Amino acid sequence: MKENYYFDNAATTWPKPEEVYQFMDSFFRSHGVNPGRSGHELAVEAEQMIFSTRRMLADFFGHSGDPNRVVFTQNATDSLNIALRGLLTAGDHLITTRLEHNAVLRSANHLARDFSIDVSLVEPNDQGYLQLDAIEQAITKKTTTMVVNHASNVTGAVQDLKSIAALAKKHKLHLIVDTAQTAGVVDIDMSWGIDIVTFTGHKGLFGPMGIGGLIVAEGVEIKPMRFGGTGVDSASPYQPDVYPHRLEAGTLSMPGIAGLNAAQKWLLKLGGDKVRHATGDAAEDALSAAGHSHRAACIAAIDHIHQIEMQHVSRIWDHLESLAGVQTLGRLSDGEHIAVVSFTVDGMPAQQVAEMLDADYHVCVRAGLQCAPQVHQVFNTFDTGGAIRISPGYFTEEADVDHLLVALSEICSN
Ligand SMILES: Cc1ncc(COP(=O)(O)O)c(C=O)c1O
Repeated sequence: MKENYYFDNAATTWPKPEEVYQFMDSFFRSHGVNPGRSGHELAVEAEQMIFSTRRMLADFFGHSGDPNRVVFTQNATDSLNIALRGLLTAGDHLITTRLEHNAVLRSANHLARDFSIDVSLVEPNDQGYLQLDAIEQAITKKTTTMVVNHASNVTGAVQDLKSIAALAKKHKLHLIVDTAQTAGVVDIDMSWGIDIVTFTGHKGLFGPMGIGGLIVAEGVEIKPMRFGGTGVDSASPYQPDVYPHRLEAGTLSMPGIAGLNAAQKWLLKLGGDKVRHATGDAAEDALSAAGHSHRAACIAAIDHIHQIEMQHVSRIWDHLESLAGVQTLGRLSDGEHIAVVSFTVDGMPAQQVAEMLDADYHVCVRAGLQCAPQVHQVFNTFDTGGAIRISPGYFTEEADVDHLLVALSEICSN
């Protein structure tokens, strides 16, 4: 038996590509200075690395505007707080859904309780997908903003973002998208009409913890909610208006950004290799014909990653469906999915199953409500302690899945 069989990639992807560990280490050693604060060469080079990361991420998410509108934060939670607090004012109506993570739900609840903002939660269908007519029915004259996740961290159901964005445009609403579970596995294109994309660095983007961000489309303005040093315009008594300084106060996580930088380059190389393999010598032409070479290569990479992860999750899902007394939250055939499956076992609390997987089989999964209590209300798993979530990743091996399937059979037959 191996020391660990890691099936908790929805919590954080692990391991990361080797290039990420190496570049974080080497750049932190060679350029561990405060970027953007001092004019010396090292600080300028550190700032250049940060700007090149903004550019890559802008392209990755289909943001064609100023790369300085890619703002770095601590994680998706931080980004969602900044976006929601910065966009909404007292009397506004916010639409969100019962599929959301507490990063959205708690932010929305505090806005409602402390800032007089009305909040509506849209009900998904019984497979965990949003219906456009249900969203449309929730819109009132006071609705200004809508925030939805691209995929649930409990069911793995991927929402039809293009149609949701079109609906938001039709009603002139701001659309914020929580891409925590999809960035790096499903394509996201801000040109569909997304106003703000929020992302976290440590999941499908293969960066470390403690770095995330948001991208604010041209023409959308967010009020800052944090104030402090930016390294520019120090004489001004107030936060500068220009991005990214408007929303970035204090020293950035330069090692975190270096990790994201290396991870973007890793995706670029992986995708470039895939395109090259498919098109032979015409690879560079194929990439530049697609417009942005970084984005085109990354799309090829995430398609490849998604395919591998879905092969693993389909094996797991099929196996779970064959076991007596096991119920999955939704079905793989319901619609588009990421590689996340949650389930319950009759007569066994979720926590007990996870503990047995860990103690007896060295399998790491997550049990409970997964910070998304409303989804469990929808699937009737709230009062029984939630569900067990399994999330394979790109670095999962077939033999790891073999081991997991044996473990599940043995636990569920007891
Ligand atoms: C859908 C979703 N949104 C937001 C978050 C919050 O991400 P972070 O903890 O990196 O802020 C998560 C984390 O699991 C998530 O799955």
